[in-house]
Amino acid sequence: MQEQNNEAGNAYWSSRLAFILAATGSAVGLGNIWKFPYVAGENGGGAFVAIYLLCILLIGLPIMMAEIMLGRRSRKNPIAAMQFLAEESGRSKRWAGIGKMGVCAGFLILSFYSVIAGWSLAYVFRAIGGMFTNIDLAGANQMWTDLSSDAERTLAWHSIFMITVVIIVSRGVTGGLEKMIKLLMPALFLLLLVLVGISFTLGDADKAISYLFDVDFSKISTGVVADAMGQAFFSLSLGMGAILMYGAYLPKNASIAKTSLAIVAADTSVAVISGLAIFPLVFAIPGLEASSGPSLVFKALPQVFGQIEGGTFVGTLFFTLLFIAALTSAISLLEPVVSWLVTQRGYERTHAARVSGFIIWVLGLGTVFSFSIWSDATLTLAPKIGDKIYVILENQSFFSMVDFSTSNVMLPLGGALMAYFVGFMMKPEIVEEEMNDLPTALFKLWYFLIRNVAPVAALVIFIHVTGIGAAMSVLFGWS
Ligand code: TRP
Repeated sequence: MQEQNNEAGNAYWSSRLAFILAATGSAVGLGNIWKFPYVAGENGGGAFVAIYLLCILLIGLPIMMAEIMLGRRSRKNPIAAMQFLAEESGRSKRWAGIGKMGVCAGFLILSFYSVIAGWSLAYVFRAIGGMFTNIDLAGANQMWTDLSSDAERTLAWHSIFMITVVIIVSRGVTGGLEKMIKLLMPALFLLLLVLVGISFTLGDADKAISYLFDVDFSKISTGVVADAMGQAFFSLSLGMGAILMYGAYLPKNASIAKTSLAIVAADTSVAVISGLAIFPLVFAIPGLEASSGPSLVFKALPQVFGQIEGGTFVGTLFFTLLFIAALTSAISLLEPVVSWLVTQRGYERTHAARVSGFIIWVLGLGTVFSFSIWSDATLTLAPKIGDKIYVILENQSFFSMVDFSTSNVMLPLGGALMAYFVGFMMKPEIVEEEMNDLPTALFKLWYFLIRNVAPVAALVIFIHVTGIGAAMSVLFGWS
């Protein structure tokens, strides 16, 4: 087959399926298996899950289509793409700013993502070593604390992960990624289903299902909405240009709508299935709190692997697949920056990957230390004003602040701006031309969502963040 190259110097995906695989590889990762259960647990379950699913459908899916379209139309990295598309429609070059914010968000996300992926890799070796056998909650807690509070060890795993990502991205993403994902994604999916089966028999399935799916409206607050929306963007890899970048390598004749639907369906089912695998255990293990935070999965699952027959094998397989899922996501976080450095700044690809990888590695130290030597250095701001306590920040570590500012602020903001751009800045003829495989009614629905619903994301962040800001101004007497 003739290899076609686009401006970024990369070959196009060999087919629509290859693109779907790569984008699914980007979307499915730690966000689904590690983050979704713990954020759902921190936000009390059902109400969060319901809002999350609504955000996926009404905001995530339309923005996924928009991002792919922006990429395919421009065939460029996010910064160059926004500039090109803005000029094409006679708008200001400043729209490239969305791409720049995306690059920053990508750096920040990958910096902590790499540390968590490092934990997964460390757990592969704990599994192989049979260390889960007959482990109880105290043992699992200890194992996690021993790892996460040991800065040297987590630093080593973080380094191994970043080096791996840099090596893969140096070689260009459209080559080997396909084959890897084609096999391993279905394997991960099947394994998760097996884990749901096991956890339904060992754990408390009824309680888990009602926890995840019974909606208690009294639990809805702007915090819950902001977390659910942030999680939707994070899980679908939206708002920073990763999907745009992959869309730049998409063959012209592929249907954007069908493609997006496949990716969103895969990603969302993996998240829900992970929830179904974790929560029956959470309710069956006395002392394990749904709101345990980032350690939840690492504390719940080893006990299962330690109890079942063949648990050493299943556990090793699970953490290996989790690690690979994290790797295919991390690649999509680094690729936009690298592609920009190569095409706009004249860097050689390997050099670009190394330089940006190094900066991300340094940023990652903040997360490494958040769980170890800085674990006491958390920030709590909960002023008592009159007789009311305003909780602004509660035990926030460096890690949680990076997480908040990316997932809950930068990604939804980037997504809302891209939606606004597609809805109001791009010439409608161009948008229609790119989306011409959609039946008219669906096109209208999509355009409506992009123009009217997706930008609301920005409003939600605005209210949430200004709420925090207002409370702070009272606290510090700002006027
Ligand atoms: N979606 C991935 C996950 O769920 C993480 C990720 C990859 C991502 N690329 C991204 C998040 C781009 C935001 C933006 O694990």
